Amino acid sequence: MTKDAFRLISPSGKETELPVRSGTTGPDVIDVGKLYREQGVFTYDPGFVSTGSCESDITYIDGETGILMYRGYPVEQLAEHSNFLEVSYLLLHGELPTAAELERFDHTIRTHTMLNEGMLNFFKGFRYDAHPMAMLSAVVGSMSAYYHDTLDASDPAHRDIFAHRILAKLPTIAAAAYKLNIGQPFMYPRNDLDYTENFLQMLFSVPAEPYEIDPVAAEAIDLLFILHADHEQNCSTSTVRMAGSSGANPYSAIAAGISALWGPAHGGANEAVLTMLAEIGDKSQISKYVAKAKDRDDPFRLMGFGHRVYKNFDPRATIIREMCHKVLKQLGRDDSPLFELALELEEMALKDEYFIEKKLYPNVDFYSGIIYRALGIPTSMFTVMFALGRSVGWTAHWREMISDPTGRIARPRQLYQGPAQRDYVAIDKR
Ligand code: SDX
Repeated sequence: MTKDAFRLISPSGKETELPVRSGTTGPDVIDVGKLYREQGVFTYDPGFVSTGSCESDITYIDGETGILMYRGYPVEQLAEHSNFLEVSYLLLHGELPTAAELERFDHTIRTHTMLNEGMLNFFKGFRYDAHPMAMLSAVVGSMSAYYHDTLDASDPAHRDIFAHRILAKLPTIAAAAYKLNIGQPFMYPRNDLDYTENFLQMLFSVPAEPYEIDPVAAEAIDLLFILHADHEQNCSTSTVRMAGSSGANPYSAIAAGISALWGPAHGGANEAVLTMLAEIGDKSQISKYVAKAKDRDDPFRLMGFGHRVYKNFDPRATIIREMCHKVLKQLGRDDSPLFELALELEEMALKDEYFIEKKLYPNVDFYSGIIYRALGIPTSMFTVMFALGRSVGWTAHWREMISDPTGRIARPRQLYQGPAQRDYVAIDKR
């Protein structure tokens, strides 16, 4: 919806009217599409702090009040009442499924979890200690070499098949990477198990003995997948949209998103939080590390703290913190010292003027690693866990972007600060 406009008057007095558009909720936007044509200038916003890159119906976040909604449903309600497969259907299709729709969707995902057998050869080529995110990105990128029969992005059926393959096969690829890291045989998926139970058995079962699914672990992972499923135009989702905007095949776009997520400033933070907590060691060291985080000359940051959008509590961190208590208790794990250290660090940081003034709160990555570790998942797999949840969000955004009839290739401009034009100098004159 368009309402009034911003009137821009250039230094030379040339006027341009920039329309203002409103969404369902949240900040209005100024449509600057005609700015360059009429005024010969670009907008400038490194990091896109004040820039909307697209319209979307999928997820809404309000950083001031700590709101996160998937297709209008508050994440707190989905966390309490739903499950990851139902949330995946919601993100992909825009509505909660009927019982029949969910049953069909569940059956489709369950029966597409196997990989093309040839893909398993990749894992024979990786070093045993290859980082699982490197393997996930590589093998997902290779999917376009196997599934090139359904890459017509203009065909809704192909878009559905792509979505089902990503959702169904990523846990299998992730588990295969983990098994390579620990020198155990790859475990095939089982169609008699639900999504997270199947993932757990691919991770932790061995051919030598029966494996019993721990319902606490399955429930915790399902909830963590829900909380990581989507998050508006974050770095990795924007990467998927940008890569997909050129018409690149969707598997390559998702592989690009996996690589972007790996950075410690983004999804790699959950792994970095555990490394940081281990480095801090015990409560007596907390004030030293908080001081390091505040020192502008020290590159150290409190991992798991701060957020580009949330200037209040990340609602996901609140839910995960509560989950920590329950999961650690139910699993009888001895990770409570680690959890106690995290709680103490959070309490000290939240009282500190620096964190208050800069509105730095714990984000989704601050506590999630403590639960993953309590479930027996190694630190190197934490960002893979994030990617498994976020894979459906990336897929939903790719589908939305590729289905937009007004969509164009994403191609930002720049402020050039290089040398003015100059002539070539022969090598003997330099
Ligand atoms: C995720 O975008 C998303 O939605 C991401 C995500 C998702 O679901 O997709 O929510 C997932 O990526 C969560 C964030 C995980 N990253 C971390 O926990 C890494 C630690 N946090 C930061 O590096 C930082 O807070 C970011 C990257 C999260 C946000 O960076 P911004 O918005 O670019 O903010 P900034 O770096 O400009 O920081 C603003 C100020 C700076 O100080 P000044 O230059 O103004 O003096 O706050 C300081 C920063 O130095 N600051 C921190 C800090 N985070 C910001 N100081 C100490 N410790 C920190 N963690």
